[in-house]
Amino acid sequence: MCKENSMKGKTLVITGATKGIGKAIAEKFACNGVNVAFTYNSNKEAAERLGKEWEEKYGIKARAYALNILELDQFKPLFEAIDEDFDRVDFFVSNAMIYGRSVVGGYGKFMKLRPEKGLTNIWIATVGAFVKGAQEAAKRMQKVGGGSIVTLSSTGNLIYIENYAGHGVNKAAVETMAKYAAVELGEYGIRVNAVSGGPIETDALRAFTNYEEVKAETIKRSALDRMGQPEDLAGAVYFLCSDDAGWITGQTIIVDGGTTFK
Ligand SMILES: NC(=O)c1ccc[n+]([C@@H]2O[C@H](COP(=O)([O-])OP(=O)(O)OC[C@H]3O[C@@H](n4cnc5c(N)ncnc54)[C@H](OP(=O)(O)O)[C@@H]3O)[C@@H](O)[C@H]2O)c1
Repeated sequence: MCKENSMKGKTLVITGATKGIGKAIAEKFACNGVNVAFTYNSNKEAAERLGKEWEEKYGIKARAYALNILELDQFKPLFEAIDEDFDRVDFFVSNAMIYGRSVVGGYGKFMKLRPEKGLTNIWIATVGAFVKGAQEAAKRMQKVGGGSIVTLSSTGNLIYIENYAGHGVNKAAVETMAKYAAVELGEYGIRVNAVSGGPIETDALRAFTNYEEVKAETIKRSALDRMGQPEDLAGAVYFLCSDDAGWITGQTIIVDGGTTFK
């Protein structure tokens, strides 16, 4: 049976939507009539510009909030600020990721890993941020009879990617955490899933020391002979939040252009 679009008027909370994958996801929801509460870290101006742009273009409400995912005690006040501006939370996407100095000791070869530095930061930014964000979101979803939570993951926990041990292992961990959350939140009508992407052309990937090599290898490995683009992941996240995915929970959807198997 053909049902009407039930996404309109609902609210998405997403971390790190100033650029890359987060931006593409936020815009996908906005253009389907979903209100968007999104976070930025360093790009306040870009965030405010995007919020205005989405409001004008799609006739929805969009607001940007500051958040540093390395400061986990910022999640509670973030959601309290969102409560002031939005009357409901239906979807939460844990997307933001750290890079640069904060991943030193976490992004690199196995023998260079430093659990007391960058490796722990990646855990905080991946697993810690998912747990804190999903907990706050789930409390609000319970009030509206359910919702959908999605964490971004990457195929770097399935195949070897140079220097990616710290991220890969934490993506595996967050996928497992999502499964546990799915079991325990199901009774409230809350579904929890992960979208695992192959290499996607964003600033995060451009920051890889061997970016050109990764890009060439991705195109070579892809059954579709091209790099992944942020929009390639946005559709899967949107689908998982829609009623069409009403019986999907505790899963990871892999969106990799065929790169993992080839
Ligand atoms: N790119 C890939 O190949 C790929 C593949 C699979 C999965 N993923 C996953 O997809 C997600 C998004 O990645 P991306 O490639 O789109 O990254 P990106 O283009 O580098 O964007 C990162 C986002 O996170 C925010 N951010 C950075 N540091 C932060 C911090 N300390 N606290 C809060 N927010 C912070 C940034 O905000 P500001 O701009 O305001 O600083 C930005 O909005 C990540 O979880 C990543 O692991 C990426």
